[in-house]
Amino acid sequence: MNRLDGKIAFLSGAARGIGAATAKLMVEAGAKVAIGDVLDERGRQTVKELGDAAIYAHLDVTSEASWAEAMDATIAKFGKLDVLVNNAGIFNGKGVEEASLDDWHRLVAVNLTGVVLGTRAALPHLKKSKGNIVNLASIAGLVGSQLDPLYSLTKGGVTLFTKSTALEFGRKGYGIRVNSIHPGLIETDMGEKTFVMRAAQTGTNDTEQARKTTLGLHPIGRLGVAQDIAKGIVFLASDDAGFMTGAGLVVDGGWTAH
Ligand SMILES: NC(=O)c1ccc[n+]([C@@H]2O[C@H](COP(=O)([O-])OP(=O)(O)OC[C@H]3O[C@@H](n4cnc5c(N)ncnc54)[C@H](O)[C@@H]3O)[C@@H](O)[C@H]2O)c1
Repeated sequence: MNRLDGKIAFLSGAARGIGAATAKLMVEAGAKVAIGDVLDERGRQTVKELGDAAIYAHLDVTSEASWAEAMDATIAKFGKLDVLVNNAGIFNGKGVEEASLDDWHRLVAVNLTGVVLGTRAALPHLKKSKGNIVNLASIAGLVGSQLDPLYSLTKGGVTLFTKSTALEFGRKGYGIRVNSIHPGLIETDMGEKTFVMRAAQTGTNDTEQARKTTLGLHPIGRLGVAQDIAKGIVFLASDDAGFMTGAGLVVDGGWTAH
């Protein structure tokens, strides 16, 4: 179950966090992986821990030329591509009144343009392999986020881009599946940032209290870890999810059950 033997995957933003945990689990499931990120040193370290089954390629997801280079490096090394994980993303944690126009443009560039460019760069290769795409949305792409409505707007876009590309590629007969995953609060660098921003927005600067508040939103009684999401991504990328496309897998400890 959930095997990826012989598969080649590309993961954006996988130097750390959910992406790095997913790269590791994919290798354990039999895949070879290419990871792209702007954090070169961290990315090379992550790849080193994965041995021969992984390569690192510098990637700024906001740049079309950067995607072309990273994809070329992947094909040069592994010869094909079966899975794209559009994982790179940023969180601002500012309200509508506090965020600057530059904040908004940056969110759009990474969280939306990055996903569009990644999809386009991978498409010729996925058409050949009849592969699949997993997009990192969020529960903030399903329900509203009082902490960061602008982030929520970008993730809502990822949710519907997933469904729309699943439909387009289906209509065109490409045999490419596209699905999204919707994490609750996951304890990564980004997860930590949400505590800091929640504390700032409530005017207390008490990040420990913010953590407790967030924990209380998860009926399962704990926060998520990167491996929780990695398992969902590996499932979606594997043939076990062969009848799933245009779907969103919610892995949120029950947050959106409210
Ligand atoms: N952590 C959470 O609670 C949570 C919840 C819901 C959704 N998500 C989503 O999961 C994904 C991964 O998040 P994470 O928690 O691992 O965050 P993270 O901050 O630990 O990792 C994100 C990675 O993306 C990279 N990145 C940022 N901008 C980039 C760019 N322009 N080009 C290439 N790489 C870039 C970063 O360098 C980093 O390595 C994101 O899309 C995020 O929005 C996270």
